[in-house]
Amino acid sequence: MPDFDYQLVVIGSGPGGYVAAIRAAQLGLKTVIVEKDKTLGGTCLNVGCIPSKALLASSEHFHFAREQFAAHGIIVKEITLDLVVMMKRKGEVVNKLTSGVAYLMKKNKIEVVKGFGRLVDGHTVEVTGGDGAKRTLRTQNIVLATGSEPIELPFLKFDGKRVIHSDHGIALPETPKRLLVIGAGAIGLELGSVWARLGSAVTIIEFLPRIAAIGFDPETSKILQRSLEKLGIKFELNTKVTAAKVTGQGVELQATNAKGDVSYQADIVLVAVGRKPFTTGLSLDQAGVKLTDKGRIAVDGHGQTSMPGVYAIGDVIDGPMLAHKAHEEGVAVAERIAGKPGHVNYDVIPGVIYTAPEAASVGITEEQAKERKLDVRIGKFVFTANGRAIASGTTEGFAKIIADAKTDRVLGAHIVSANASELIAETVLLMEYSGSAEDLARTIHAHPTMSEAVKEAALAVDGRMLNA
Ligand code: NAI
Repeated sequence: MPDFDYQLVVIGSGPGGYVAAIRAAQLGLKTVIVEKDKTLGGTCLNVGCIPSKALLASSEHFHFAREQFAAHGIIVKEITLDLVVMMKRKGEVVNKLTSGVAYLMKKNKIEVVKGFGRLVDGHTVEVTGGDGAKRTLRTQNIVLATGSEPIELPFLKFDGKRVIHSDHGIALPETPKRLLVIGAGAIGLELGSVWARLGSAVTIIEFLPRIAAIGFDPETSKILQRSLEKLGIKFELNTKVTAAKVTGQGVELQATNAKGDVSYQADIVLVAVGRKPFTTGLSLDQAGVKLTDKGRIAVDGHGQTSMPGVYAIGDVIDGPMLAHKAHEEGVAVAERIAGKPGHVNYDVIPGVIYTAPEAASVGITEEQAKERKLDVRIGKFVFTANGRAIASGTTEGFAKIIADAKTDRVLGAHIVSANASELIAETVLLMEYSGSAEDLARTIHAHPTMSEAVKEAALAVDGRMLNA
């Protein structure tokens, strides 16, 4: 390494970047990680996946205590909300995990450099610290893992008070009386659920004809919508927001749908219309790193950008903006840099929406099977026929398996249920091994468990369910 101080500089410490750094260090590379924020962990740990799941858990307990305790014979006279404590707990969860990443950096002897990193050339990163001091890192390889940021609507500028994005949506000081959400994707549905459970009147506006439209099965959208409507969330589908008026008191949105022009009023509007790659200030142009037509960093099949030795992973490159996808790309890229055959199977990436019930999906949907004219057989089992679900009072939802009609190979799985996020894992593993519906159907599942519904769905592919 004659000219270089490091073998790898990773810019960004989210689930993509910090995992890439750990894997590189495990493989013996002298590694440094650069982070502009105070704590490590990126969007996921600080303001995304983790704090939202903490609030989803707390708000689900609150709602369950109010709505379901009596049916279980538990009588509690008055259940009230202490939002300050709920938010404090969320903060503690985040601290535990972000300090956990700092510990992992130390344990793996990865140097952490705090400050804003930018590319000078393919082997040089300049980091500007909070005090303005600059430091230059000379390195053999670079991994760009700078993540994404919320998309703003042109007529609805974020002010953090009346017009908010997800970072604000996990930190509201009080429960808004009326909350409008634009976008029925993962963020809109999850944060909409949190605030609906805590007492807000929530309306979600979506311009597509169904909720959870991206990556999820149409039947998932239908069942999820029905459940969320029971919670009190109103949906305005096929509706395009066109203009907005923000005052000190609240927000008024103008929109168009089949009824013509419509308007909505609320105290706060949460804009959840997607995220865009965060590449501001990276000096990609100057360093000769090319972007795709959609503004993501262009990479080849090995995660390498147009500049040899510079790699990119996670939300800044193509594909679903998911922490676990970034994580696997981090591992694969670190392995390739170390001369090993790292690989990511893009056909088998699970997706989850953490509502109640949860929605989980992997592989192709029924719609995609039709579009691609694939000859498939589909098996489905509903949780109303599952013993554990009945005992637990969690009978909403279904498990569905999509298998190739000739080979029986499983091509997709879709689950709506309590803990669907965990149930989907066995189908992901099955697909990773190119397994068949028959393999799943012949696997012994503990009784009574929710996972038996997944086995029954696999049996249903061949029309031989045993419990329905
Ligand atoms: P999204 O892309 O998942 O959904 C945005 C929704 O907004 C779409 O249904 C879209 O049709 C709709 N939309 C867009 N513009 C609109 C407009 N002007 N009016 C009405 N509707 C409009 O984006 P979301 O929920 O903001 O999430 C961003 C990213 O973060 C996604 O890639 C998502 O997968 C990821 N994420 C994943 C989570 C998870 O895995 N559980 C949780 C949170 C975010």
